[in-house]
Amino acid sequence: MRDGCVQVGILGLGVVGGGLYQILQGNAEQIQRVAGVGIEVAAACDIDWEHPRDFSVPEALKTTDASGVINDPDIDIIVESIGGISPALDYVTAAIKAGKSVVTPNKEMISKHGEHLLALAAAHGVDIQFEGSVGGVIPILRSLKETLASARIDEIIGIVNGTTNYILTRMSEEGADFAPVLAAAQAEGYAEAEPTDDIEGIDAANKLAILAALAFGQRISVEGIHHEGIAQVTPADIDYASRMGYVIKLLAIGKREGEELELRVHPALLPADHPLAAVRGVFNAIFLRGPECGEVMLYGRGAGALPTGTAVAGDVIDCARNIAHGSRGRAPCTCEGEARLRPMGEVQTSAYVRMQVADQPGVLGQIATVLGSENVSIQSVIQESSRDDVAEIVWVMHRGPERNLQAALRAIQDLAVIKQIPSMIRVVQ
Ligand code: HSE
Repeated sequence: MRDGCVQVGILGLGVVGGGLYQILQGNAEQIQRVAGVGIEVAAACDIDWEHPRDFSVPEALKTTDASGVINDPDIDIIVESIGGISPALDYVTAAIKAGKSVVTPNKEMISKHGEHLLALAAAHGVDIQFEGSVGGVIPILRSLKETLASARIDEIIGIVNGTTNYILTRMSEEGADFAPVLAAAQAEGYAEAEPTDDIEGIDAANKLAILAALAFGQRISVEGIHHEGIAQVTPADIDYASRMGYVIKLLAIGKREGEELELRVHPALLPADHPLAAVRGVFNAIFLRGPECGEVMLYGRGAGALPTGTAVAGDVIDCARNIAHGSRGRAPCTCEGEARLRPMGEVQTSAYVRMQVADQPGVLGQIATVLGSENVSIQSVIQESSRDDVAEIVWVMHRGPERNLQAALRAIQDLAVIKQIPSMIRVVQ
């Protein structure tokens, strides 16, 4: 504290750190009123002060010396908005050991090292808060920790990656292919130059690990979360899905199944009347279900300087209140165990499968025989008119163990009449 104000050091003045800086400076009066204590930025640390920014930082606050900020005895709260594991994890560890509360929107670090960091923070009697790590401005983690703290949550379905939701929305509205839409999204700044984590579902898996830990009260190993991306989704699939009453979304799904958890990220056909189906563009939403709370959905901007900066500022205010009232470290990890993550083969799924086959007698029968022998039950089948003696058949299978479907698809792939199986997309009801 200095002059009765809580002092904040920001490590990383990129998109989110910059948004936080602007909010703490621009809304200082309101923040002081709601926090009950003044909050000042004492230091802003970045390795690149030449990088153009649309706000200015006084020279007196600028530094490139992260250790100097972490070890400054006047600074009470360290905000880590660098991202990634290194050096963020070292900085956060050092800050906690130096007795500082920490705020971070770093989903990768929290999903992989959250358990250790929460234990370290508890041991040092400080707070660590990470609301901005999932869903940008959406107050989902605080809702789970506070408003829904008494509720049993049985299911989470999230659209937690704005990049992929933006791409799928444009593909669906323009009938465009994945690659050109990704290139356009990169040119417009909606997708990263290196989009692998977003496109392949890794970013969503990190967020699901954090959501599931809080919703189900279990320690989660993110490495155990099955994830698939959206690069294989085509306009043809989106069109078939639409005609059957579905939209295609990249979903992060978490379910309690008895003593086990089912956690997965993959594209899915979602009924067009599901509340998540209306989530377009870069927006995120998280849908929860539980016996006491019923259905709950939270919606908002999942990325961006000011939206995510707002969530980070909320955490800073919470930490500042605890510092002002001497109540730091009152919200330790509440996970009670480490439930088994059900392997994908054991998960019950329903699927949409698109096949290109020779247009000749008996083909449908051959495929149906293989499905039957692997215990996969057909819900519906559509055959479109053929072109060049190749027919396209679209199947929707009833719910059943995923391993049966995978075994059937491997056997069907080997049939001489099969030209190609371009798509298998799970259906969520
Ligand atoms: N890359 C993320 C997304 C934003 O596309 O949603 C930050 O989590």
